Amino acid sequence: MNNFIYDVPTKVYFGENAVSNLHTELKNYGKKVLLCYGGGSIKKSGLYDTIIDEITKAGSEVFELSGIEPNPRIDSVREGVKICKEQNIDVLLAVGGGSTLDATKWISAGAKVEHDAWDFFSQWADVDDALPVLTVLTLSATGSEMNCGGVISNPETKDKIGRLARPLLPKASFLDPTLTYSVSKYQTACGCADIISHILEVYFAPEKDMYMLDCVMEGLLKTVIKYGEVAINDPCNYEARANLMWASTWAINTFVKAGKAHEWSCHPLEHELSAIYDITHGLGLAILTPRFLSYCLNEENVDKYVQFGINVFDIDKNLPPMEIAKLSIEKLSGFFFNTLGLQSSFTQVGINSEHFKIMAHKSCEGECINGFVKLYPEDVEKIFEMCL
Ligand code: NZQ
Ligand code: ZN
Repeated sequence: MNNFIYDVPTKVYFGENAVSNLHTELKNYGKKVLLCYGGGSIKKSGLYDTIIDEITKAGSEVFELSGIEPNPRIDSVREGVKICKEQNIDVLLAVGGGSTLDATKWISAGAKVEHDAWDFFSQWADVDDALPVLTVLTLSATGSEMNCGGVISNPETKDKIGRLARPLLPKASFLDPTLTYSVSKYQTACGCADIISHILEVYFAPEKDMYMLDCVMEGLLKTVIKYGEVAINDPCNYEARANLMWASTWAINTFVKAGKAHEWSCHPLEHELSAIYDITHGLGLAILTPRFLSYCLNEENVDKYVQFGINVFDIDKNLPPMEIAKLSIEKLSGFFFNTLGLQSSFTQVGINSEHFKIMAHKSCEGECINGFVKLYPEDVEKIFEMCL
């Protein structure tokens, strides 16, 4: 097991009406607030009015950046940076799903530098500082509320790039499960697939020495499988929405990762899909993950699949290992495509093999993905083909 440091000081307010604490936190970070949100769901739900009341209670002045898109674009980041600089913004408040949170985080870094914000991705420009970010989460999926990552798309270069940078870590996040009642069945399903993928990217690892974390991850997976179905059928079920929300946060706030050093595999593949086809992140992962697991399965790593199948899906442990492994992948597919009702192939979502070569090359950054199993561009192409 590798050494690691666990240090994630985001303060979390969890539960119904958690947002009523927002004004207290806002007061800690200055007077001028840039409120960032997406395409309007927060206006439809009435959350916008609650947020404005909280900002008023804090005695702060509000500026707004709206229209942040799913798979957020660098142009939204640039627009936010411009407002921060022109208005001398003190603190950023992101209200929405992962896309809004991610864009806001990169605005917070862009506000502190003179160069274009895309340089953070194209040149890997240093991220030494950022304006403070607070978040109000409205969709359980990405874990952006308690991690220092953010993924930004550039339609001009057809890139979608994620990067971690410590200064982007939110100072405080407000997690009220009732704010996710209005999330559509489709986005709920995509969110569940995303959470599961975050866990499996870590669970299927070359290292075999973290029993304690394996148990935690199996618990998180079972939580999403149990409550994903409930939330799809009963969107205003508090228990289901609360379990999904807290599971999504803990799936990717570095706790389960500990010292595991291997690279993630399905996420870089999915980012290439979203970059070209602008598909929903969780949907791409749902289609890719079972094929990735099938492609990687071999006699040396079958035990991990057996552990997954028995502990997460209660598959009969007396069956032959390869059979358990294959059944576990079938069960996962059944959850994504039957229980959650997600589309199951690239063909169904209008993706053909036209760009596979370049996508495979870019996802391996020209070399390979050094993950659970080493993947070279030719392997990635084969996985893409299995998804057709
Ligand atoms: O834009 P609005 O009007 O708010 O509508 C959004 C959007 O259309 C809607 N929505 C959000 N909350 C809602 C709601 N609709 C009704 N009621 C609510 N309460 O849902 C749609 C999708 O929102 P989005 O923010 O795009 O979804 P998600 O949270 O899944 O975020 C996806 C983005 O996060 C990145 C993905 O790549 C993708 O760009 N990721 C970020 C990560 C991170 N920061 O750590 C890790 C992830 O692996 C992921 O890559
Ligand atoms: Zn993800």
